[in-house]
Amino acid sequence: MKGNQYGSHRVITPKGLLPQAAEKINNDPKIFSNEILIDVIALQPTSTAFGRIKNECGRNIDKIKQAILEIVEERGKFQDPVTKSGGMLIGIVKEIGEDLKGKIDIQPGDKIATLVSLSLTPLRISEIHHIDVDTEQVFCKANAILFESGIYTKIPEDLGQNLSLAIMDVAGAPAQVAMNAKPGDVVVIIGAGKAGLLCLAEAKKRVAPNGKVVCLEHSKVQCDIVRELEIADVVLQVNGQEPIDTYNRYMEAMDGRLADFTVSTVNVPDTELSTILVTKDIGKIYFFSMSTDFVKASLGAEGIKKYVSMIIGNGYYPGHAEITFDIIRNNQKLREYFINRYCKP
Ligand SMILES: NC(=O)c1ccc[n+]([C@@H]2O[C@H](COP(=O)([O-])OP(=O)(O)OC[C@H]3O[C@@H](n4cnc5c(N)ncnc54)[C@H](OP(=O)(O)O)[C@@H]3O)[C@@H](O)[C@H]2O)c1
Repeated sequence: MKGNQYGSHRVITPKGLLPQAAEKINNDPKIFSNEILIDVIALQPTSTAFGRIKNECGRNIDKIKQAILEIVEERGKFQDPVTKSGGMLIGIVKEIGEDLKGKIDIQPGDKIATLVSLSLTPLRISEIHHIDVDTEQVFCKANAILFESGIYTKIPEDLGQNLSLAIMDVAGAPAQVAMNAKPGDVVVIIGAGKAGLLCLAEAKKRVAPNGKVVCLEHSKVQCDIVRELEIADVVLQVNGQEPIDTYNRYMEAMDGRLADFTVSTVNVPDTELSTILVTKDIGKIYFFSMSTDFVKASLGAEGIKKYVSMIIGNGYYPGHAEITFDIIRNNQKLREYFINRYCKP
């Protein structure tokens, strides 16, 4: 039997919604004729989702495991009930529905990374083997389903599964930098974790030779890493949740020149105003962070009389997987950093 291309046939409650917005979806591994069944190797929850669960569980691995199992059991998908955020997964294609055979470029046995959110992906976990609290990766035995509209990428042999797992979750962010940053621009990246580092590296390339890349990051460790990687012209250790201080520090360092394009990649709430303040009128902001609050951003901008275009962080951009793989391929230092940080043996 054929299902709806966007997966609405799997929605249990509330009826009428698509899977991302649904409370509960059907995670039965028996696939419809236009679906793909995946044997899951590992989940990469978003930093926002994992971070919230981790804090609630006091970093206790057994409690985190239990919380993840309960969420998936209850909802048929991994979607943090508080932040609504998901993540992505890597796995091996197990079965391809009759209607898709010959129409797609993968076959059973291929290793892929899904590029749609876990918050809409039917998932049934039979066992969690290991959770790495540091890399926020969850290694498990599970089945997942991709709908006909679901996107994925084959895991490139030169980069391997662990590196792909680490970077594909955030591939939408550097792709937007590739699209929006121009030579001569000032580009600001707030937050220098996984997404932020990839954005900084891409921005550095795009604004050359005369533009400037500014990194605003909370932790000293990450600031030092950015300096070592030489992917920003200016690195400021600031707390984005303190907008006036962030703005003053930025203005001083940049001699009053505001950003043409700013990307928020933080994993905490309440940084909208810092992001808006450092961006010029008629500049652009890409709110990739899942902690972004629409009301705070829109009314906050109005409140300070700032006419700025604000793009919601759509995780998808055509070609985003390749753009992100290429950033890693072309920057040896960044590649080594990601391997050391996220690819534990
Ligand atoms: N839009 C989408 O489709 C999509 C997809 C995937 C992920 N995301 C979201 O993207 C965001 C970034 O993900 P990620 O994996 O890159 O996270 P990450 O590796 O945890 O990086 C977040 C960075 O933000 C920094 N930060 C935290 N609080 C800050 C503050 N007050 N001021 C300045 N910097 C601060 C963190 O510093 P510390 O070291 O101090 O923590 C960290 O370096 C998350 O919100 C995630 O949910 C969005």
